[in-house]
Amino acid sequence: MKKDLTCISDLAKKEIIAIVKRAFEFKAKSDCGIRHENLLNGKFVAMIFEKPSLRTKVAFELAAAYLGGIPIFLTSSQILASGGGEHGRESIPDIARNLERFVDLVLARVYSHDTIKILAKTLKKPVINALCDKHHPTQALADLMAITRHKKSLKNLKVAFIGDGNNVATSLMQICATVGINFAIASPKGYEIPIVEQTVGAEMAKKSGVSLHFLKSPKDAAKNADVIYTDTFISMGQENEKAKRLRDFKGYCVDSKLLKFAKPDAIFMHCLPAHRGEEVTNEVMDCQNSIVFDQAECRMHIAKSLLTFYL
Ligand code: CP
Ligand code: NVA
Repeated sequence: MKKDLTCISDLAKKEIIAIVKRAFEFKAKSDCGIRHENLLNGKFVAMIFEKPSLRTKVAFELAAAYLGGIPIFLTSSQILASGGGEHGRESIPDIARNLERFVDLVLARVYSHDTIKILAKTLKKPVINALCDKHHPTQALADLMAITRHKKSLKNLKVAFIGDGNNVATSLMQICATVGINFAIASPKGYEIPIVEQTVGAEMAKKSGVSLHFLKSPKDAAKNADVIYTDTFISMGQENEKAKRLRDFKGYCVDSKLLKFAKPDAIFMHCLPAHRGEEVTNEVMDCQNSIVFDQAECRMHIAKSLLTFYL
């Protein structure tokens, strides 16, 4: 296993499968009331968060605590992580050099993927990307766990993502391509998954023998899908583009009409937070086939699994 988890392509297929398998073991124990195990033996986990979070923060803080580790939550206002130089307290490499002396692992949610790369390069300890502008790998692992939980087999599955070709879509596309799940995405012009990430995905898909489709029409993407997935049209840091994005994403809301193009037993997924009435209707969020809260729960089992693998 590589030292860091910066994006899905850091993981081999067998590593992804092992992480998800261990997460299921943690879930089975948790379902029997066994949450605490002293596997981390007092190891320290620094959690740098430049952006807000509910699921990732709670999942990793609890995972560390349940496993006998000690999480230390650091917000941007405390350390001004990306504001090095003129506006910040100190540079990213200096933050890393300090943390190197104190903690055993760094989890970081940041604006720029470059910050993750600098942290990973500077620290000799593991760095896990808890979301950046380009990737959300811990989410994709939980997504795979949730799909595995709700579908009999991963064979011949099709995941359809409707909306922005963002961090969540990129990591989902790459994990599907790696483990062998067909993937289609429909995005408006100008909001596609970046070509460089599509190319990485295409190589993975070629190896595992599945197809990737980058489309415009939500209906075409949703056709015969086993999973319909969406995320916000306005990611953290894009708030000033809200009005334009809401205009550009008109017609991309996942509603009951769109779900009809998918298979009758298709599940609905969303990384959350959801913006009801924007990328998804209330009806779909709350329908029987919506697994969004199971999916959220998977974040914690995956967090436990990741902490044990990387520590
Ligand atoms: N899905 C997800 O990462 O949620 P948070 O932003 O609340 O952590
Ligand atoms: N694409 C969203 C995901 C939030 C979990 C964002 O980056 O804000």
